[in-house]
Amino acid sequence: MLLPSLPSALAYGGDYNPEQWPESVWPEDARLMREAGVNLVSVGIFAWSRIQPTPKTWDFAWLDRVMDLLHAHGVRVCLATATASPPAWLARLHPDSLPVTADGVTLHIGSRQQFSPSSPDYRRHATALVRRLAKRYARHPALAAWHVGNEFACHMNECHGPHSTRAFRVWLKTKYKTLAALNAAWGTAFWSQLYGDWEEIHTPRRAPYASNPAQQLDFKRFTHEAFFDLYKLERTLLKAAAPDVPVTTNLMGFFKPLDYHAWAREMDFAAWDSYPDPALPDEGRHWAAVGHDLTRSLKPGLPFILMESATSAVNWRAFNRPKPAGLMRLQSLQAVARGADGVMFFQWRASLSGAEKFHSAMVAHVDPERSRIHSQVRALGAELRRLAPVVGSVVHARVAIVMDWAAWWALELEARPTKLDYMATLHAVHRAFYAQNHAVDFVHPEADLSRYVLVVAPVLYLLTPAGAANLSAFAQNGGTLVATYATGIVDADERVVPGGYPGLLRDTFGVWVEEWVPLDDRFANSFRLLGKGGAKLACREWSEFVHVEDAEVLATFTADLTAGGPALTRRRVGSGRALYLAAGLDVPGWDALASFLAAEAGVSPVLAVPTEVEVSERVSADGTRHLFVLNHRHKPVSVPLGARRGVDLLTGRPAARTLTLGPLGAAVVALPPAGQSDKKPGR
Ligand code: GLA
Repeated sequence: MLLPSLPSALAYGGDYNPEQWPESVWPEDARLMREAGVNLVSVGIFAWSRIQPTPKTWDFAWLDRVMDLLHAHGVRVCLATATASPPAWLARLHPDSLPVTADGVTLHIGSRQQFSPSSPDYRRHATALVRRLAKRYARHPALAAWHVGNEFACHMNECHGPHSTRAFRVWLKTKYKTLAALNAAWGTAFWSQLYGDWEEIHTPRRAPYASNPAQQLDFKRFTHEAFFDLYKLERTLLKAAAPDVPVTTNLMGFFKPLDYHAWAREMDFAAWDSYPDPALPDEGRHWAAVGHDLTRSLKPGLPFILMESATSAVNWRAFNRPKPAGLMRLQSLQAVARGADGVMFFQWRASLSGAEKFHSAMVAHVDPERSRIHSQVRALGAELRRLAPVVGSVVHARVAIVMDWAAWWALELEARPTKLDYMATLHAVHRAFYAQNHAVDFVHPEADLSRYVLVVAPVLYLLTPAGAANLSAFAQNGGTLVATYATGIVDADERVVPGGYPGLLRDTFGVWVEEWVPLDDRFANSFRLLGKGGAKLACREWSEFVHVEDAEVLATFTADLTAGGPALTRRRVGSGRALYLAAGLDVPGWDALASFLAAEAGVSPVLAVPTEVEVSERVSADGTRHLFVLNHRHKPVSVPLGARRGVDLLTGRPAARTLTLGPLGAAVVALPPAGQSDKKPGR
């Protein structure tokens, strides 16, 4: 259970910023929340300057009244620690607490997030604030969870100021102990970069040409840890005051600067903010799905919370399209379908001032009784209440995609053989399985893989010996392991593993690669899957000269420098198999390969449905299966359920043998545990 104080309800609500409003508005907020079925709000995210207007004055009285009012209306609070945006006085008293870019530009006050993660003054004041908040509200009956900071590193994701430089040196001394070890790891013999004194070392500031890659990679690790330390500092203070209250923060899906695998271990539940672009409906629905899948995967076996989303338009894209009627509902149900136990929005009431006043909200700038958005908000609240049986249930994926932040950081450093986009590649692989309605998790290379039958490791450029051994063992033990080009190229120090790529996985795949052949519009290539009627797959971005040592060739390149060479290979490994893909693919190519791999591994989707219909299954502890069927088309669709007999939770009636879903329609069918006879419900 994510929230002990909401044991049997999906969480529903949003960011609530009462400090922006006269107190006379608050009772109406609380009444409207109750009427809309809101049971959880995030309070105080940007309220530091209101709580502590000067370094020596504190004002909690208003927050006490907000907490009491919400409690009286049955609304629980995810209470923020308010550290996301320090007051102006911090910069006045400590100008060196401001962040500095790689070009040496200081980022000033007047917006938000203007602090260096390594500033001792920021830390000191944040600690004092969190201590007081924790002590004051630890036992407040409205408190459901703590919301640490807000979207850590969202706008300011590295700092090159004096405190960061000093802290980076300390971090490096802890890691390497001696300068000799650092020089060896960074390969500083290259371009006369040898360091003779720790004081010579800086963060990788703007330089005449490509900076040392190992230095850059260490700086990314250091920066990630600097933010993570701030989170852990606050988490420790909160736990000391309220050991049983869950602590979380709002993650941002595929957010490069922070290694969320590490963060999730220190969070009681995962939460993320999802803003798919309504102007790009197809990309948008996949963009949200892949983010839900990542967030769910960060805490295996636990639901997550969609902490922020938009009821309609956002204000921060160049072109901000509102959502058509029904899309907000469908996207909210999509989050639940993929493992969310809560649907929240930014924000409750649309601001009248400030930089986000044109962002949609649950209560718009108009009378809620006559509001198009608010009527949808109320309807969604009522539907989420009917989905209470889903609370705590989980998605069981049999397919996993390997995802590692260090590999991402390293793959996209300067001075690559050709520019590769880690996230775009992972998204392309995921999209193919998603389109075929296979549940997919994202896993760290060293994670327990025993629950999967198919594991795909795309462009896993940096790989540790432990990661390589884990992936090999997965195949040895009967799994189907797939790696792509640009995998296993370097070790943790960004140093090439010599002897042919994919380095430590050469023996597992029985191939080695000597040279890469990037592709673009001028240099086309393709390969055909062997076997009768095998599809022809167009290659994108990448191809390789592959030498086969001990593997079966499943496809060969048709053109260009690699013509006739292996494009896809397979090797028996223990009781499983290892397939190596030596090329990038376009969308139809990934679709064809995903079908081939699913057949190879023996996985099938939970239900066969027309295209643009999304299916996901959540299973409760008692084995009840909750089948979510979501129609992303703007026209009706029929979905046969076959022999399955269940109850449609949204209507409360037995589900028809064939579901008829209207445009952007959805059904959630509760089915008896697998293996039990499909009796008619209630008999
Ligand atoms: C992020 C932030 C919010 C708000 C929204 C607007 O998710 O966390 O404070 O700025 O974006 O979309």
